[in-house]
Amino acid sequence: MTTPTTPTTPVAGRVALVCGSTGGLGEATARALAAQGARVVVTGRRRERAEEVAAGLPEAVAVGCDLLAPGAAATLVESAERLLGPVEVLVLNGPGPAPSTAAGFTDDDVTDAVGRHLRPQRDLVARVLPGMRERGFGRVLAIASSGVDAPIPGLATSNVGRAALAGYLKTLAAEVAADGVTVNLALPGRIATDRLASLDAGRAERQGLAVDDVRAASTAAIPAGRYGRPEEFGTLAAFLCSDAASYVTGTAVRCDGGLVPTL
Ligand SMILES: NC(=O)c1ccc[n+]([C@@H]2O[C@H](COP(=O)([O-])OP(=O)(O)OC[C@H]3O[C@@H](n4cnc5c(N)ncnc54)[C@H](OP(=O)(O)O)[C@@H]3O)[C@@H](O)[C@H]2O)c1
Repeated sequence: MTTPTTPTTPVAGRVALVCGSTGGLGEATARALAAQGARVVVTGRRRERAEEVAAGLPEAVAVGCDLLAPGAAATLVESAERLLGPVEVLVLNGPGPAPSTAAGFTDDDVTDAVGRHLRPQRDLVARVLPGMRERGFGRVLAIASSGVDAPIPGLATSNVGRAALAGYLKTLAAEVAADGVTVNLALPGRIATDRLASLDAGRAERQGLAVDDVRAASTAAIPAGRYGRPEEFGTLAAFLCSDAASYVTGTAVRCDGGLVPTL
């Protein structure tokens, strides 16, 4: 029997396109991948911020892109491949939606859920997947939400859209596993980013409470007793994108301090 080798630099040299990496969880993922030797495409709507993040990473490049704009996936993948070469690691990440209820869900909300959480992601995947399969290596990781496992009250658009994304990616994972392409989801829950701060502020305003009180109540529901740090999420995401995670596919891994109460 041959002894399996564990790569010491498990993403070294790989080209990683990390969507929404000008801040928050995407930036933390880009940083963790770069720390392990990946060549990273940093992207978001704020091109200057993308340049700032990329400048602090070895062999990284910046591309400005609004993922919700028509044709965005084509332009983004074309730019990434022109600058660094074929995309080997694709991290799907982007804008979370505004709060919404299921009782008040409209046709426009259905369009928004799909347009925000499924359409750009599928378009990106479709553009990099053939190359990944041909080369016999690929990593697709979606930064989704703990709401995939336990729908979050008041975030109906996210719950609906990400359920669709999860169904798409789970189906895809089985179709491409034999080609060396893994497809997974990472499910963050209450990780201290700008988005979480704005959700807390919005809830405080709607309920007439102090933000500190909202945060304290929110923290009390987390077994770890605190919000997560973006770099804790980045470490998990980078592992799922690495050569070392070659037998991990079709799964969703939470990073939520124990927030979701089910297994
Ligand atoms: N933090 C958590 O605990 C948590 C929990 C559950 C789910 N999530 C989800 O995880 C994802 C990342 O969350 P986060 O907390 O890191 O949010 P964040 O701090 O607001 O960061 C969002 C990132 O996405 C980029 N972005 C936003 N709109 C975009 C657009 N239209 N096109 C391209 N890029 C866009 C932003 O960059 P630009 O401003 O430069 O475009 C930024 O880099 C979101 O979908 C969020 O809903 C987060």
